[in-house]
Amino acid sequence: MERTLVLIKPDGVRRNLIGDIIKRYEMKGLRVASIKSVYPTAEMAKEHYKEHIGKDFFEKLIRFLTSGMVIAIILEGQNAVKCARIINGSTKYQDALPGSIRGDYAFDETENIVHASDSTESAEREIKIWFPEIC
Ligand code: CMP
Repeated sequence: MERTLVLIKPDGVRRNLIGDIIKRYEMKGLRVASIKSVYPTAEMAKEHYKEHIGKDFFEKLIRFLTSGMVIAIILEGQNAVKCARIINGSTKYQDALPGSIRGDYAFDETENIVHASDSTESAEREIKIWFPEIC
């Protein structure tokens, strides 16, 4: 069974969207295998987003991810990586289609409600960051 890492970012938590977001994954047949609330350190955030080091939005992204509570979720299911990304919608809020999480809720390039791993390799790397107790 494939697994992926989803984060409900601080804006999603502040806007009381946790239940709505998790329901959308579950409706598609994805199972919450593990879930926790985390106040990420800058080190965790930088490790998670290390592919973006050097980009002009990197520091803003780290400040945002460390600005409040994050819900970290391991989702399990067939094609979990692709399904979670489709449910999330395009990273750019202006391209995200209605019916997707970002299409329905996001209006900012950095604060875009959710994150989901972009490949099975990324999922395994990211799961180690957010769930170091799980192999
Ligand atoms: P995410 O899917 O978590 O992956 C990288 C994150 O960087 C992205 O969501 C946004 O939160 C942020 N991001 C990507 N592109 C930009 C951008 N051009 N300006 C600001 N933030 C961005």
